[in-house]
Amino acid sequence: MTVTAPPSARPASASATPAAPAPATPAAPALAEWVAEYAELLQPDEVVWVDGSRAQLDGILTRMVDEGRLIRLNAEHRPYSFLARSDLDDVARVESRTFVCSEHEADAGPTNNWREPTAMRAELRDLFRGAMRGRTLYVVPFSMGPVGGSLSRLGVELTDSAYVVASMSVMTRVGDAVRQLIDAGAPWVRAVHSVGAPLEPGDADVAWPSNPVKYICHFPETREIASFGSAYGGNAILAKKSFALRIASAMARDEGWLAEHMLLLRVTDPRGRRFHIAAAFPSACGKTNFAMLRSTLPGWTVETLGDDIAWLAPGPDGRLRAINPEAGFFGVAPGTGYDTNPTAIDTLWGNTIFTNVALRPDGDVWWEGLTATPPDGLTDWRGEAWSPDSGLPAAHPNARFTVAAGQCPSIAADWEDPAGVPIDAIIFGGRRATGVPLVVEARDWEHGVFLGATIASERTAAAEGAVGELRRDPFAMLPFCGYNMGDYFAHWLDIGTALRRTGGVPAVYQVNWFRKDADGSYLWPGFGENGRVLAWIVERIAGEAPAVDTPLGRVPSVSGIDHRAAGVTDAEWAELFRIDPAAHLAEADDTERFFGRFGDRLPAAMTRQLDALRARLEQQIDRKAVA
Ligand code: OXD
Ligand code: MN
Repeated sequence: MTVTAPPSARPASASATPAAPAPATPAAPALAEWVAEYAELLQPDEVVWVDGSRAQLDGILTRMVDEGRLIRLNAEHRPYSFLARSDLDDVARVESRTFVCSEHEADAGPTNNWREPTAMRAELRDLFRGAMRGRTLYVVPFSMGPVGGSLSRLGVELTDSAYVVASMSVMTRVGDAVRQLIDAGAPWVRAVHSVGAPLEPGDADVAWPSNPVKYICHFPETREIASFGSAYGGNAILAKKSFALRIASAMARDEGWLAEHMLLLRVTDPRGRRFHIAAAFPSACGKTNFAMLRSTLPGWTVETLGDDIAWLAPGPDGRLRAINPEAGFFGVAPGTGYDTNPTAIDTLWGNTIFTNVALRPDGDVWWEGLTATPPDGLTDWRGEAWSPDSGLPAAHPNARFTVAAGQCPSIAADWEDPAGVPIDAIIFGGRRATGVPLVVEARDWEHGVFLGATIASERTAAAEGAVGELRRDPFAMLPFCGYNMGDYFAHWLDIGTALRRTGGVPAVYQVNWFRKDADGSYLWPGFGENGRVLAWIVERIAGEAPAVDTPLGRVPSVSGIDHRAAGVTDAEWAELFRIDPAAHLAEADDTERFFGRFGDRLPAAMTRQLDALRARLEQQIDRKAVA
């Protein structure tokens, strides 16, 4: 059941920014009562309300250092920074233990694990009973988006992990200002988290308590989240994937907006024209690198607005406007270095919490890719002496940094504008070694939705499973969509229909930085050179760059991008755009099987797009045969 909050429940300052549709978040109980109810169930030793003050956070961090849960890094190298080492079995999001507990299984859809909500609630109550004995229950009121902004939404996380409190304090806006809005009646999302490791008197604690039994549960109808057993980022920092994507996608469906796994950036051309782009890539496909891109093209600049999540809503001007609901970056450290992402490295100069990276003897941190050769005397992410001969990585491949977005040198000055930025283009990307061209322009919004729905990527270390295996990841939302993905495709189509009425439909593109030649070498240098692709996209939007039609969509004409300046030969350039119709027809069969999983929840427009793609590919084969 969905209850619309009364208009008086909206924060007073909300009227300063574009009107979002009325929140459909069900009325939550009074905050204090809810906390008291959970305190009784969880039985913590004490309850601490997080007020958002520096002094309180300092106290929490200092206590964690004293208790051996954090290592304070050498302030000469990395001021006010810390290293956390997780339990060896608590290093990534556990999708197999992530559940969408909608009333009806069909509403969770075939891509989510489903549990019946009443039974799940009962099971969670048993797990939560006494789960915080011997520990502190922290109450963390938080805002996704600037506090009081009309596109922003509020939540409260209860947690017994000080690491989660510290991370939430970086990743979101926490504290009294949010609590006041909630007390004044603003709707909020309820999130309960426990590491599931109660302490009885006399029990010794460990640095990273967790439980082999894990659950990350979402109740989209009632806007609730419950997480048990893990303290690792995405499983425990519930504002991020759980709220800002899984629950928010359901809110967005009901309220007419989009909650997406997208970076957000502004590109300014040499004439000073500004364009805003939202881009979806599956986990660990270089979203943070792209968001912080330093373009090699003279006169072009890229400013960062967000690196992982964007909330997009039709604005009063009829255009799609987007905010980054987060306040920090929870980025993958390995592979991040001066040569790949100098801006990220400059962001991490201090005030950073690192997780599962290696420790240098001088009290600073290191990870694979930070420098070409590892320094001597490293301690690895497990806390053991490490040498390159060990054959093991010194940092866990999913090691992370947690840092305030405001510390990023390329952050846009107005990144916290509650009104958001108008979106000119949406990009979908994946990690594809073969077949998929460097860049393709969608023919229209419906074709763009098809491109988003058919994203596939090679599996990475951010989630469980075999690295390298190809998996379908529609809109890069496979693990993050809080409802039936077929309905989600339909919602995207509906948003396009609404935007068409107001003339605000963004252009849609597909990119692939990862295509390889027959020897397995990347054909495109990527990183700063991706700025050339961005420039082409922007020039297309401005109606200034030529394009060539192909069965997959429009691609740059040979003169569209100066590939030679990027060190790419004419032969490599041709290979980057080579289309093998037979391979794409085989992939279309796979798409049909994938789409088949959604049954009657698949919008007819997706089948229509697939049929049209097949027809265009077959025509190309026929043309070749005639030639
Ligand atoms: C992330 C992910 O951590 O997508 O951002 O896995
Ligand atoms: Mn992500």
